[in-house]
Amino acid sequence: MLGRLKEEIAASQGWIAFARYMELALYEPGLGYYAGGAQKFGREGDFVTAPELGSLFGRTLARQLEELGSPILEFGAGSGALAATLLSQHAFDYHIVEISPQLQARQQARLGARAQWLAGLPERIRGVVIANEVVDAMPVHAVAWRENGVMERGVALVNNRLAWEDRPATGELLEEARKIQMQAPYESEIGLVAQAWMREVAARLDEGVIFIFDYGFPRREYYHPQRATGTLMCHHRHRAHADVFAHPGEDITAHVDFSALAGAAVDAGLEVLGYATQAQFLVNCGITEVLGEANVENALHYAPLAAEAQKLLSPAEMGELFKVLAVGRGVKPPLLGFSHGDRSHSL
Ligand SMILES: C[S@@+](CC[C@H](N)C(=O)[O-])C[C@H]1O[C@@H](n2cnc3c(N)ncnc32)[C@H](O)[C@@H]1O
Repeated sequence: MLGRLKEEIAASQGWIAFARYMELALYEPGLGYYAGGAQKFGREGDFVTAPELGSLFGRTLARQLEELGSPILEFGAGSGALAATLLSQHAFDYHIVEISPQLQARQQARLGARAQWLAGLPERIRGVVIANEVVDAMPVHAVAWRENGVMERGVALVNNRLAWEDRPATGELLEEARKIQMQAPYESEIGLVAQAWMREVAARLDEGVIFIFDYGFPRREYYHPQRATGTLMCHHRHRAHADVFAHPGEDITAHVDFSALAGAAVDAGLEVLGYATQAQFLVNCGITEVLGEANVENALHYAPLAAEAQKLLSPAEMGELFKVLAVGRGVKPPLLGFSHGDRSHSL
């Protein structure tokens, strides 16, 4: 991976945008984290997503999906865990868009004929779109508000090693950064790729709901003066660190600016149908009832489920940092998952 990165930097007059670095590190065929490189998630891997913990997340989400019906279009299905849970209990018409050929093959081996894979974005979309921990894996632009103006942070080679290097920000990045107006010195990320993706998916949605599950904040909290070094993070065997150049080709993520995503959807004519913490959403969908279906007497069966619920709901784990945003067209609110504690006003 390092060789490929150095080649690209050399071919680009010694500098590439951080968004390009992240794109290569995650998706470069054969080398990137999700494209045949180191990628490993799940219990034995680098990080665990909600559907990888077990079936509780999927079975609870299913209660919201039953209210809305199929077809379902899942983006970035990973190991296929969420689809497997949803399809084990319901005959949803299930479609998947997966950017990584390796992961698509893994999903196909797991799900077989129960789902269909699309080569790219469908022309028109009707139904429910789901993206769990997909937006945090989209390349972000790194930006710095400095005394001498707004800079785009990129990657250069210093003594043949990867290093940060600033260039004056231009175009859309500069425009977006100016809207945010931070006091220098301040470094953070702007998710231009995620915003463009949302605009595109939203514009194609004729009728239905898009659910985004991910870790992140509304804009006000995202660009908080105290978060002055941004949200970039790498995960390696369940340990998080912020040195994005330490092991090129390992996982890199950024938190999601939910206000920007909601704004992009609204620009494309959609309505915000709800925004809540993952804990609130799952409680509204009836996670306690789903848990209640388990046999409490059987500790072997119940203990892992209770641990899973704790992980999904606890503010110290996924309950508070993880959010759910729903945007849509032609669907009447309130949706089950936002029936109490909807925080759309804070976006
Ligand atoms: C962190 S994994 C999450 C996997 C799964 N959703 C889960 O929760 O376990 C990110 C997934 O998103 C995929 N991905 C990233 N960008 C994508 C895009 N623009 N379209 C479709 N899939 C994408 C990756 O290949 C990977 O499968």
